[in-house]
Amino acid sequence: MARLLSLTALAAVLAPAAGNVFALAQLTAGCTSSSFTTPSWLVQDLRSQTSANLTVASFHALNRATNVSLELRCTSSTPTAGWQSCRARNQTEQSLVAAFQADTSTAWFLFNETWSCSDVTPSKPLTFSALGNSSVALNCTTDTSTTTTCHSTKPLLVKATLASPVKITPSYVSGPLGHDTKGCTAQSRTPAWEVAASQINLRKVSGVLQAGNVFVIIRNDHLGYTASCGGVLTGASGPQPLTCEGQLAYRRPDKYQIDTVLSFAPETFELAVNQTWFCDDQDPAQPVSITASGTTPLSVECQVFNGTAPTDTTTFCSGGTNGTFAGNTTSRALLQPYSLNDPLPTADSCTISSILSPAWWFNGFETNTTTNNNQVVTAQFGMELQTGGTQSTGNFAIVAADGVVDATPSGTNSSAELPWNTCVLQSVGDAALAPTGCEFRYDMASRFLGLRVQWACADLDRGSPITFSGEVRTLVPDLTCVTSGTRIRCAASDPQPWRANVTSVTWK
Ligand SMILES: *[C@@H]1O[C@H](CO)[C@@H](O)[C@H](O)[C@H]1NC(C)=O
Ligand SMILES: *[C@@H]1O[C@H](CO)[C@@H](O)[C@H](O)[C@H]1NC(C)=O
Ligand SMILES: *[C@@H]1O[C@H](CO)[C@@H](O)[C@H](O)[C@H]1NC(C)=O
Ligand SMILES: *[C@@H]1O[C@H](CO)[C@@H](O)[C@H](O)[C@H]1NC(C)=O
Ligand SMILES: *[C@@H]1O[C@H](CO)[C@@H](O)[C@H](O)[C@H]1NC(C)=O
Ligand SMILES: *[C@@H]1O[C@H](CO)[C@@H](O)[C@H](O)[C@H]1NC(C)=O
Ligand SMILES: *[C@@H]1O[C@H](CO)[C@@H](O)[C@H](O)[C@H]1NC(C)=O
Ligand SMILES: *[C@@H]1O[C@H](CO)[C@@H](O)[C@H](O)[C@H]1NC(C)=O
Ligand SMILES: *[C@@H]1O[C@H](CO)[C@@H](O)[C@H](O)[C@H]1NC(C)=O
Ligand SMILES: *[C@@H]1O[C@H](CO)[C@@H](O)[C@H](O)[C@H]1NC(C)=O
Ligand SMILES: *[C@@H]1O[C@H](CO)[C@@H](O)[C@H](O)[C@H]1NC(C)=O
Ligand SMILES: *[C@@H]1O[C@H](CO)[C@@H](O)[C@H](O)[C@H]1NC(C)=O
Repeated sequence: MARLLSLTALAAVLAPAAGNVFALAQLTAGCTSSSFTTPSWLVQDLRSQTSANLTVASFHALNRATNVSLELRCTSSTPTAGWQSCRARNQTEQSLVAAFQADTSTAWFLFNETWSCSDVTPSKPLTFSALGNSSVALNCTTDTSTTTTCHSTKPLLVKATLASPVKITPSYVSGPLGHDTKGCTAQSRTPAWEVAASQINLRKVSGVLQAGNVFVIIRNDHLGYTASCGGVLTGASGPQPLTCEGQLAYRRPDKYQIDTVLSFAPETFELAVNQTWFCDDQDPAQPVSITASGTTPLSVECQVFNGTAPTDTTTFCSGGTNGTFAGNTTSRALLQPYSLNDPLPTADSCTISSILSPAWWFNGFETNTTTNNNQVVTAQFGMELQTGGTQSTGNFAIVAADGVVDATPSGTNSSAELPWNTCVLQSVGDAALAPTGCEFRYDMASRFLGLRVQWACADLDRGSPITFSGEVRTLVPDLTCVTSGTRIRCAASDPQPWRANVTSVTWK
């Protein structure tokens, strides 16, 4: 059944459709960002054999950040005597320390690995060390010679806690909408959609299309996923593309994102959809991506309005589809085991940039002083943590202090003698990019601004934020001073934010 929405309602739904912020971030997934976001191993091909007192086990351990797979062997002369240490084949330097134990139904693993990544910092590789443990069900058979052979029927994900360079247990995400809902995989064989609403307007001259625009809200019937799509039409014939945005709940983005592409043919009012979504409801170790396509005529009601010239008309149409329409699955692909709960490994991260290249943006610097007491200053400025990217987001926290004493007689350039002033946070901007505390000192004569600043990052490990602290030394850009009565107000002439690196950063 076609549901009609007003244009205002459609505009409201379409409002967040502002560019795909994830497409770019996805490209930056490398050793460093994967090590911070999803440190883990995948245990594959596990086999063990126990005869008499000797157990021999072997498996592959794939480090998902480095993409290095090691073949490990563990032996124990007493089958149930606890942890057996494992050795990597062909490895002289033991970077992965692994231990294994098993009974007739379960195998347990312990990993402790140190590795380094140089993709972001080629001249100074960053060293990671991580610990993890997990267990997997075994399938064992005992033959007549009393040899017990076991294997695991699926790979095992061993999630790690980072011990270095920072102590965190990275959070995983819930994954793309509907992926683990029972029936996701099965129903994907008969894809179906519904157009909940559409609004189309076409400008024609002598019956020939000149321009127009289209808004469509389309729902994947099985998944319960709704995409809002829109586009501008040209006078060209044939289907024209629309761009789509899905439901963007405010949360950490998934590594895999549902993708919807529509096209609309103004001659026939036919809508074509291509959509990719993800299912792992049958087995999280075997996630699949499903791409399906379908076409449907839109069932709409139209009104024609005459323009100023008699041949000039505008047609407004609205409607949807009469119930659902079916499509065909065009491709299915197996993805890496357990990968649907991985977050998007993004380099634009509070934690990662605070460790690799900590810096703050500053703007709106101003001071007030009086002609009769020009050593007492009130100062105010904006600051925002840089979390990757080459521009500030504009969500500055406003920091101020009263009674900043400009102790140095003008001319002396010694910042060391300046007193520290406790920052007062007047407004926070984006809380994730604001300092949690700071002190600053300022020298009017040289425009030297020094800060001791603290901040916190909870982007990777929601449960236990990391607290950072460091120092910033910077020069405030040119100031313009205006005197009115006895008051002197100085403010930056250039409204552009400026950036300063943090030195001596520490974290815990
Ligand atoms: C197994 O271990 C027991 C005690 O440790 C020992 O007495 C026995 O000889 C061992 N059997 C074999 C086949 O090694
Ligand atoms: C990981 O390694 C495998 C084989 O060694 C290779 O086929 C695959 O493309 C690599 N993946 C990445 C993300 O580098
Ligand atoms: C490991 O050693 C075996 C034989 O000693 C060799 O055939 C194999 O290529 C080696 N593998 C690696 C990854 O070095
Ligand atoms: C992990 O391995 C490192 C180096 O081999 C060692 O120093 C550290 O104590 C180990 N950690 C644990 C928890 O076993
Ligand atoms: C296994 O990991 C859990 C937390 O994930 C931890 O509490 C437990 O102590 C670990 N076990 C061993 C033997 O390290
Ligand atoms: C256990 O392994 C056997 C032989 O490989 C196989 O036939 C059986 O289906 C497996 N059982 C389970 C529960 O996976
Ligand atoms: C859907 O994908 C097919 C095959 O890649 C392509 O031919 C078709 O034009 C696409 N349709 C839309 C609406 O993008
Ligand atoms: C629009 O113009 C056509 C022909 O120019 C005319 O027949 C029709 O009545 C007009 N409609 C309206 C609503 O003015
Ligand atoms: C829509 O469905 C109703 C009843 O299901 C039917 O009567 C009507 O003809 C359909 N309209 C179109 C345009 O298919
Ligand atoms: C699915 O594809 C087949 C052949 O490619 C086609 O005949 C059929 O109409 C398609 N079904 C749908 C619902 O598009
Ligand atoms: C600040 O740090 C960045 C990245 O670490 C570096 O490229 C830049 O040169 C530094 N700027 C200054 C002024 O030191
Ligand atoms: C300076 O004085 C002006 C005017 O009274 C006021 O608006 C501004 O907030 C003051 N700035 C600081 C840093 O005190």
